[in-house]
Amino acid sequence: MLRVRAHLLDSLRGSVTVVDEVTGFRYFDARDLLGFVDGTANPTGLDLPASALVGDEDAEFAGGSYVVVQKYLHDLGAWAETPTHLQEEIIGRTKIDNIEIDDDDKPRKSHKSLATIEDDAGNEYDILRDNMPFGRPGQKEFGTYFIGYTRYLWVIEKMLQRMYVGEPPGAYDRLLDFSTPHTGTTFFAPTRPMLQKLADGAQG
Ligand code: HEM
Repeated sequence: MLRVRAHLLDSLRGSVTVVDEVTGFRYFDARDLLGFVDGTANPTGLDLPASALVGDEDAEFAGGSYVVVQKYLHDLGAWAETPTHLQEEIIGRTKIDNIEIDDDDKPRKSHKSLATIEDDAGNEYDILRDNMPFGRPGQKEFGTYFIGYTRYLWVIEKMLQRMYVGEPPGAYDRLLDFSTPHTGTTFFAPTRPMLQKLADGAQG
């Protein structure tokens, strides 16, 4: 991976400046550093391209994907002092066995429920998440690098709005009491042929 990154940077030399470098890793059971299994509700099979890749609605960009990233730092000390049942309410899943908790009748929705997006007709819109835990114990720095791929950018925007503003407004995502975003940006990842076309255009 180090060699791939070095090679990539080498080929982009002069065109990009590195402002932050974070090395993520896979934790046991695909858990994040809060101890919960992360990625369970990801789309699979045919639902995956339908959720993550631009389709015929935007033919010129079809096959590409909008990628939203955010670097969150966790207050692991405060999280450790939070009783497990409350942590589970906040996430919306049980910690050890990763079972979904129904909170439809609760005044405060969980992270899982706030991040579930439906349109008026009841269609659910998923995204593909590839969150990576990262940490530098010597610096007491622990976090989650949120990486979300989406076909429609509005879906992630709506998730963020529900997390930060709350649903109803004020009932924000309590995951944010323990997690602070430090950087974040939105990319568009084009298909390989589109990249090639751009490169050919730039050279010609
Ligand atoms: C501190 C950063 C974050 C952490 C630690 C985190 C962790 C989790 C965990 C543990 C789950 C439950 C298991 C699963 O289905 O994966 C989950 C679900 C989910 N999260 Fe996050 N998340 C974070 C940020 C975000 C952000 C910024 C978004 C979107 C903008 C997001 C979107 C989702 C979605 C869509 C689900 C699945 C909801 C469903 O059950 O349908 N998460 N997250």
